[in-house]
Amino acid sequence: MAATWYLLTELSFELSPNKLYSFELKNDKQQVWEIAVYQINDEYHAILDQCPHRRLTLSSKGYFENGKIVCGWHLWQFKAENGEHVAPPTGNCIPKFPIKRENQQLFVLIDIDQSPPF
Ligand code: FES
Repeated sequence: MAATWYLLTELSFELSPNKLYSFELKNDKQQVWEIAVYQINDEYHAILDQCPHRRLTLSSKGYFENGKIVCGWHLWQFKAENGEHVAPPTGNCIPKFPIKRENQQLFVLIDIDQSPPF
């Protein structure tokens, strides 16, 4: 199936800038997609909430530093604007998803019927 816009959450509060928020989407096979959402310069971003290093959650220990997301587990770094891997010298990027806000609702464009990539 093709990617579809899914309701990720109904916001009951405004997201704080430079903070990772974790949400879950479940497909028909009961596979859970963990999606981390953050806001930089009034723009929303959605990424897979799993570090490509050891598949640990980014939102639990991740933080922002100089335009990068730093995974607090072993300090891998990714560009906040697109999830591109920065350090150490080799490693995978974080999958990123289009996101939009309509009133208080956040939607992500995702092919949820696929298995999560990690
Ligand atoms: S799990 Fe993220 S750096 Fe190791």
